[in-house]
Amino acid sequence: MKKATGVSIFLLGSLFLLSGCGRVQEPEAVKTSSPPKQEIASNQFESAHTCQYCHQKIYQQWRGTAHASSSTNPVFLAEMRRTSEETGGASDEFCVSCHIPVGWLAAEIPPVDGSRLSDMAKQGVSCDLCHTTTAVTGKGNAAFQLTPGRTKFGPLADPLQTPLHESAFSELHTQADFCSSCHQIIHPQNGLVLASTFSEWQQSSYGSRRISCQDCHMTPGPGVNKPNPGVTATGAPKVREHTWRHDMVGNNVFAMRRAGFSAHAARAEENLQAAAVLFLGLPAQLSPYQPTKINIRIRNDGAGHYLPTGLSLFKDMWLEVVCTNQSGQVIHSSGVLTETGAIPDGAVVFGTSFADASGEETDNLWEAVKVLREHRIPPQQYLDEFVEIPGLPLPGTLNIRVRLLHRSISLQRAAQLGISIDEVPVVVMDEISGQITVR
Ligand code: HEC
Ligand code: HEC
Ligand code: HEC
Ligand code: HEC
Ligand code: HEC
Repeated sequence: MKKATGVSIFLLGSLFLLSGCGRVQEPEAVKTSSPPKQEIASNQFESAHTCQYCHQKIYQQWRGTAHASSSTNPVFLAEMRRTSEETGGASDEFCVSCHIPVGWLAAEIPPVDGSRLSDMAKQGVSCDLCHTTTAVTGKGNAAFQLTPGRTKFGPLADPLQTPLHESAFSELHTQADFCSSCHQIIHPQNGLVLASTFSEWQQSSYGSRRISCQDCHMTPGPGVNKPNPGVTATGAPKVREHTWRHDMVGNNVFAMRRAGFSAHAARAEENLQAAAVLFLGLPAQLSPYQPTKINIRIRNDGAGHYLPTGLSLFKDMWLEVVCTNQSGQVIHSSGVLTETGAIPDGAVVFGTSFADASGEETDNLWEAVKVLREHRIPPQQYLDEFVEIPGLPLPGTLNIRVRLLHRSISLQRAAQLGISIDEVPVVVMDEISGQITVR
């Protein structure tokens, strides 16, 4: 999806009119208590390897996703084990319920070292987990109810017969509510909303227009790209008007590239580039020594939820601003990564961070009791940032370049895992430049 950037510079006059709108609305907390847990042995589920014989394409798409690697993702495992140690195991069940759902239902965790996990549980958010879901009983916290067995539930009202399984139409699978069971994370003891992707979507115009998660995340390319005609099983005699892709990609370019799924990584990058548009508000002219404030507007055009969404504390999204004079000398900058790969103080950083009971910042989700800082862009809305720039002593030109950047692992997280931050790609979500004449 290409964005128009040519006409995005507007002048200072309109700037004051426009600032003030686009306030971030706090997403309303969705109250849930954790639903009663089912007890299901892992041998009640069928392996994705079985499905691949007939749903080969879907299998290949799923295999490269965060869903398929949710039980092995090193970032998750490190965080789960650290949290477990710091809380004496109190957080274990909570953390695994969405990431290793079969291991949770089958009581194969604890121990958190995963030594009792069956091969089935290691498949993470697998085909059979999703396609034996028959109800979602609350918003978030693994509120899925499963009916494992021969019947696979899905969006087809007229499925072809197959000897391997029965098929049944499920309206739930065609709705965002299906995804809500895991994409809404609420602290089970203090009710703090840790991630609210579903409620953000629900309260947006996508929610009111019923443009579902599936419409963007299960279609080819960012945005709603329908229809996607094809067959849903290898050699099936019926070509369907629309088939749903299973490379449900977000923005984790690093993880997908590292695991060797380059097509998934490319899609993650495309998603990021489709998510936001920058606009630059500059005065047409300045006098020597006159400082100014430039207006950077960031619009969330492509994400069906806040930008960033989810547990944004594990990733980085920030603005880089570089101002040079006519001879290329940098006279002001912010958000330019330091030599060690850190985002310098004073940069405009997006995301949500949490505080513990003593008010200190914490990245231990279990100890989080309140939001410490929140700076995010609601869907189809914008935020205005104002950056001060010193004056130029002599007539000339000020060149301004602004980039919105994203990194799919934060510096601390990478260090924790012994990953060199230089290996983590920085994706340019959008970029804009402009000039101010000084005379
Ligand atoms: C995270 C949950 C999830 C996982 C994992 C998942 N699916 Fe699906 N699948 C869905 C949803 C949701 C739909 C329907 C989307 C809609 O109608 O909006 C769907 C649709 C389908 C369909 C219907 C036909 C089509 O292609 O349009 C088939 C077949 C299917 N999935 C098979 C599989 C197989 C095989 C796997 C594993 C390789 C798998 N699914 C993994 C959620 C999932
Ligand atoms: C022997 C081949 C075969 C195997 C193996 C197989 N399927 Fe299917 N599946 C089919 C066919 C054929 C259809 C119907 C496709 C159509 O109607 O377009 C289908 C349809 C589906 C649907 C859609 C149901 C609906 O009503 O929406 C789902 C979901 C599904 N399969 C999941 C799975 C899962 C999960 C596995 C592995 C546990 C699996 N399938 C294994 C052949 C197979
Ligand atoms: C059973 C729980 C579960 C369900 C149901 C589920 N997800 Fe997920 N999803 C997860 C987990 C856990 C992760 C994170 C895995 C990780 O990063 O280690 C994830 C990751 C993702 C990501 C990738 C995020 C990134 O970092 O790039 C996307 C996109 C996504 N899910 C979309 C969906 C959509 C769309 C649906 C509904 C059709 C859905 N999910 C249903 C558990 C679930
Ligand atoms: C209008 C299209 C659209 C809709 C609707 C949409 N998304 Fe997204 N989503 C995106 C784009 C684009 C990105 C990449 C930019 C970003 O990280 O937000 C993304 C990113 C994500 C991520 C990765 C976030 C992270 O930082 O790990 C998850 C998870 C996700 N979406 C889940 C969902 C779920 C669940 C729904 C439904 C409740 C949904 N999305 C609805 C477009 C959409
Ligand atoms: C209600 C479901 C749910 C629960 C409970 C849950 N998570 Fe997650 N987690 C997700 C989903 C979905 C994602 C991916 C999208 C996002 O960031 O929200 C994720 C992402 C993550 C990531 C980022 C992975 C990456 O590669 O960037 C980490 C780390 C993580 N979770 C750790 C934990 C820990 C630790 C706990 C327990 C304290 C926990 N999660 C509890 C659903 C859950």
